[in-house]
Amino acid sequence: MLSTAANERLTRVGPGTPCGELMRRYWIPVAALTQLDPNPVRKVRVLGEDLVLYRNTSGGLGLIGERCLHRLVEMKHGIPDERGLRCPYHGWLYGADGACLERPMESAKGEFKFRTKAYPVKELGGLVFAWMGPQPAPALPRWDLFVWPNAVKQIAVNIIDCNWLQCQENTGDPTHSVWAHGHLFKYVLQRQGKYEDRAASVDHTLHGRTKWGTGIKELYANATPYGFEKGIVFSKELGAEEDLVRRHSTVIFPFYTQTGKAGMPRSEFQIRVPIDDAHTLHICYQVYAAPPGVEAPGQDNVPWYEPPTHDENNELILDYVLAQDALVWKAQGAITDRSKEILGRTDLPILFLRRQLDEQIALVEQGKDPMNVFRRDPGMIHGSGAPPDQQAMFSQNYRKMYHKGFATDDADRYGPAIDLVKDLHRRIEIADLARAGANVEAPAK
Ligand code: FES
Ligand SMILES: [Fe+2]
Repeated sequence: MLSTAANERLTRVGPGTPCGELMRRYWIPVAALTQLDPNPVRKVRVLGEDLVLYRNTSGGLGLIGERCLHRLVEMKHGIPDERGLRCPYHGWLYGADGACLERPMESAKGEFKFRTKAYPVKELGGLVFAWMGPQPAPALPRWDLFVWPNAVKQIAVNIIDCNWLQCQENTGDPTHSVWAHGHLFKYVLQRQGKYEDRAASVDHTLHGRTKWGTGIKELYANATPYGFEKGIVFSKELGAEEDLVRRHSTVIFPFYTQTGKAGMPRSEFQIRVPIDDAHTLHICYQVYAAPPGVEAPGQDNVPWYEPPTHDENNELILDYVLAQDALVWKAQGAITDRSKEILGRTDLPILFLRRQLDEQIALVEQGKDPMNVFRRDPGMIHGSGAPPDQQAMFSQNYRKMYHKGFATDDADRYGPAIDLVKDLHRRIEIADLARAGANVEAPAK
């Protein structure tokens, strides 16, 4: 448990708060670039600040304060211009640096003395990142999945009605899979009468997950250069099938989780961006890599989607992994009261996560750079460790790894690129069979 003061310190993100100041030392993803396609002007709320993201008619991006300086009209209704965004009321024009470049119908003199709030933005891998901290801004880190070549990609975006730390703590919690993605999943499917159809097969992922609840000896958490890794130690003596150390996904400080390594058939960043104290922009950056010798289907851009949360009867949809996570995050309350928790041995990685967060906040308070602030571009960063040997993986079980159920049991199934993923899968099957010397027809799509 935490004291109320410590809970505030780790969760509040507005300007001037300890965690808010830490967050302002990182490039923050605020939207998928393709979210600007239907409308190039978009209201966003980040770290408790209301802003407007826009693309001007020259293709440049800007992120400025939400209201016009003249008579405070919301700039989300603005008109993109070659040089910036114009207010819809009297046409004041703001550049990406926030400078008022023009006030039509007013004196031509002195426009530049007016300046609205503005933050630098950059695009990487189809996401728009904002710098909301002090200058000079550090390098925008090129975490591997953002720049991994020869892959199909898509971006799932949801707003979750709770504090960001609840979402991130879920990553420090390897045992939740047993219940939230195992027993709960089974219960949901049984209630819907879909269990026989969807999960009766022993190969279904939920059976594997429930199995990991037996024979737990202990949990571990270890620092890595970019965050920490954690997992479960199983003991045959305690009922596990074998003595085994099972590593869980990697935490990349401050708000990333990486499942799977770059180059694997499916890998993902789960990014928990604080909108404000009680809301989180949850971004799943999903990457489906082709192995050497197979060309992934091309994409003009990285499409985005919003996995649905309710069905046509307005009932919660709970038969996919992200929805199960979102349920339990929200069900802890807007900002969960950690002074009332009763923690156990399985919460050890959560304690590690909180301690690491507290230490990094303290570094910022001392005027130092926290973890993962790069003053020089280090090139592509493997936050989850070196990628596996794709060729070796391909030879062993690449094809099989595509059949793990993400296209039916995870948010991916709603994604606009899922047909390309299936096409990639088909190309891999063809290459694999050809490599094995089989003279076969191409598998049906
Ligand atoms: S209110 Fe924006 S230009 Fe007048
Ligand atoms: Fe989960």
